[in-house]
Amino acid sequence: MIALIGTRSALYVTSHLFSNHWALSAMNRLVPEDIEAYAQAHSMLESDLCRALREETQRRMAAPQMLVGPLEGAFLKMLTQLAQATSVLEIGMFTGYSALCFAEALPPEGTVLTCEVDEESAALARLYFARSPIGKKIDIRMGRAIDTMRNLKGPFDLIFIDADKINYVNYYRRALDLLSPHGLILIDNVLWDGAVLKQPAPDEKTAAIQELNRVVSGDPRVTAVLVTVRDGILVIRPQSRMPIV
Ligand SMILES: C[S@@+](CC[C@H](N)C(=O)[O-])C[C@H]1O[C@@H](n2cnc3c(N)ncnc32)[C@H](O)[C@@H]1O
Repeated sequence: MIALIGTRSALYVTSHLFSNHWALSAMNRLVPEDIEAYAQAHSMLESDLCRALREETQRRMAAPQMLVGPLEGAFLKMLTQLAQATSVLEIGMFTGYSALCFAEALPPEGTVLTCEVDEESAALARLYFARSPIGKKIDIRMGRAIDTMRNLKGPFDLIFIDADKINYVNYYRRALDLLSPHGLILIDNVLWDGAVLKQPAPDEKTAAIQELNRVVSGDPRVTAVLVTVRDGILVIRPQSRMPIV
């Protein structure tokens, strides 16, 4: 069952496919569409497999806008390579688009461990991962990500957080324990359609993202940049002994 609820100028899609906390806006573009298209046209190309997965996700899933898409996917690949990552942990796989981007950017021995709760999304991801040897780098862990993270050892070179917003601060705190000293944490949707500017927060997800942004920017253990790609990505690295001034 899908409920469509008009609010502001946005379309809100709520589906029983996602947890009670999971209601995602169709995402107003913060970056104008023609600028985004221009940036995409002048960035790393999306692979054929990613394109096919994106198109099938758009045909079959209730909230296809949840996948990061070609421009953010290219950005994730670039950061994976710059970090010289060999191990990636992803919180929130959906149909596997960003997991595939990471797997494509990793060296042959690289691994992606990705967490998901929704069986229908995971079934589509498995179909596409099986189509390429690159898919063998990806290990899907079903169940609540916070439980999966509790039982992981790490360290991971890159941790991408893109699941239920309510748990963002919990994911960030656990991610810091699991991160290698030279690693990167990336957190998606930290502008939340621009709603983070609103005071007081209009709902609990917006409040959770505002809290995350406050916690990260005030955390002396890390340095961070909030990058205005798509819906906002926090790029976080552990503070080195020689702080950048
Ligand atoms: C925004 S989507 C991820 C998109 C994905 N990174 C991509 O670019 O293709 C968020 C995903 O997190 C999953 N999710 C929500 N709550 C979760 C939880 N507690 N544990 C694990 N996954 C969860 C949802 O089912 C959904 O598929």
